Amino acid sequence: MLKIKYSMAIFLIFIFILTGCQRSFNQEESSDQVTFVIGVSQANLIEPWRVIMNEEIKEEALKHKDVRIVVTDAVQNSEKQILDVEKLLQQGIDLLIISPNDSVALTPIVAKAYKKIPVIVLDRAVEGYDYTLYIGPDNKSIGREAGKYIGELLAGTGGNVVEIQGPTGLPSLQERSAGFREIINQYDNIKIIDTVIADWQRDKAEDEMEKLLQQYPKIDVVFAHSDYMALGAYKAAKKKGINTIKFVGIDGFAGPNGGLQLVEKGILQGTFTCLTGGREAIQYALDILNKERGIPKKIISRSNKITLSNVFQYAKVNHEVKKDNSNHKIVLGFSQLGAESDWRKANSQSIKAAAHAANIELIFIEGDQQQESQIRAIRSFINQGVDVIAFSPIVESGWSEILEEAKGAGIPVILSDRGIKSADNSLYYTFIGSDFVEEGRRVARWLIGKETTTEGVNIVELEGTADSAPAIDRKKGFAEIIANHPQFKVIYSVAGDFTKDSGYEMMKSALEMYKKDIHVVYAHNDDMALGAIKAIEEYGLRPGKDILIVSIDATEAAFDAMLAGKLNCTVECTPLLGPQLMQTVKNLMSGRQLPVRIITSEGVFPAETARMDRLNRRY
Ligand code: AHR
Repeated sequence: MLKIKYSMAIFLIFIFILTGCQRSFNQEESSDQVTFVIGVSQANLIEPWRVIMNEEIKEEALKHKDVRIVVTDAVQNSEKQILDVEKLLQQGIDLLIISPNDSVALTPIVAKAYKKIPVIVLDRAVEGYDYTLYIGPDNKSIGREAGKYIGELLAGTGGNVVEIQGPTGLPSLQERSAGFREIINQYDNIKIIDTVIADWQRDKAEDEMEKLLQQYPKIDVVFAHSDYMALGAYKAAKKKGINTIKFVGIDGFAGPNGGLQLVEKGILQGTFTCLTGGREAIQYALDILNKERGIPKKIISRSNKITLSNVFQYAKVNHEVKKDNSNHKIVLGFSQLGAESDWRKANSQSIKAAAHAANIELIFIEGDQQQESQIRAIRSFINQGVDVIAFSPIVESGWSEILEEAKGAGIPVILSDRGIKSADNSLYYTFIGSDFVEEGRRVARWLIGKETTTEGVNIVELEGTADSAPAIDRKKGFAEIIANHPQFKVIYSVAGDFTKDSGYEMMKSALEMYKKDIHVVYAHNDDMALGAIKAIEEYGLRPGKDILIVSIDATEAAFDAMLAGKLNCTVECTPLLGPQLMQTVKNLMSGRQLPVRIITSEGVFPAETARMDRLNRRY
């Protein structure tokens, strides 16, 4: 014990010497209390948004006596950030939180760190998947929402808009701008008359706005990519005595000169919240270090539109800790879409077991692959007055009416596994599930790596239920990647319903039509692949040899088929969503702000490694 304490003390002295000007939080804790050292590599501290991110990290870390934080600042320099991470690794940190200065330049060092320790990436993503968890905003959608709002502000009258951006070339910034323009360009009478760069700085925004005011006789709205820049622009207008311009920003922080206060004072007409993810990074870091299961791969934070009509309510809910003093047991109504596949059965099982473990009362209604049955189930939950409704929507469209009913009854809704198509994202609180587009891409990437011929490769695509999120997205992701490889051609594509029977029938038709000209079958799930395998065998061909077969889910039956040499690869789509769902329900009930999407972590399993991979499978 003495030896351990002695080594820990030496280690901490070592950190202190090496970090130099790096800031280390929780330093008042004695060394024997520290279990985890977390390295934080920040891209810069020029942006006020990043200062807040670090503050949140610090505040959250201070809640844990056993955590020490070592923070570095890359001062907008990717080479320095690479060295910062190298140093942190040498110091023996247990986990790295990094907000990269540049997505491409930082990818190799993040991958190197990930080989040794867990890595959480904040805000700017890196390329590929060599990290533990990504937390960030959906910048395109923030831009779109801002566009819609400004469209409403200028509805009828039309008008001139000025856009104030952060530094040039940032992908996040380009996405915001693209989303904004996509909406504004739909209005004939609204014009973006100029775009200026103010590098996130209030003073620079003020200077730029002064120039704009000299140049343009009429500016109606200023859309700034941060509240601080919006404030700078406002000051310039005020100095000139102009009070007709409306200012809209992004960030929505609390505190002096934060977006919320600016909206309260009427300086900003509105702002769109953009969370830093700092607080959540520490919460997840601890879950990861404590080896909790079910850590997601990606968390996309929610953005709220804040105007005078909701700013006081928003600030109250989000900045006062809502204490749930009742001993009331949470009641969750869950509408399952059916029992069409092994995946679905494992999913239902996971939800039931997790509700039991979390002491949540679950009212579980099994569907029959019919949207009407699910709508009936949701309505019955509303009538029973459950606390939360979760459901796995069979198809993407047609949910608005019932979700409006739930909203009207004040019951929050969580989407599990499948998403919906809706212009109104206030109809549900969050989505928990897979990135189906990425699954389709993974299938295509595996196929391109496997089938190296330059001759034509004919593919039969067995799709899932028409209008369902997995069928739409898996097709899209696959098509996106093979588009750059013209030798791969989808010669036959047809919709089934994710059952083994539909896979069998579709494959029989494909074989009748194309006979031996089929080289690859891409099935949107394992059950349909298993049905196709049966049809191929009956036809007298060898599945997995004469025809390559790749599918999605990674169920136990798929592993059996790979070990029998009949299936070549399965891309994982995890059904084990229960624990994450129950945690989310609890967070929701305790008043915590939920991200808009929680994406699960998944892998790719080729037949070659199936025997070993199988040892770790749980469904
Ligand atoms: O929505 C997930 C999909 O639905 C699974 O991949 C499939 O097996 C299931 O039926």
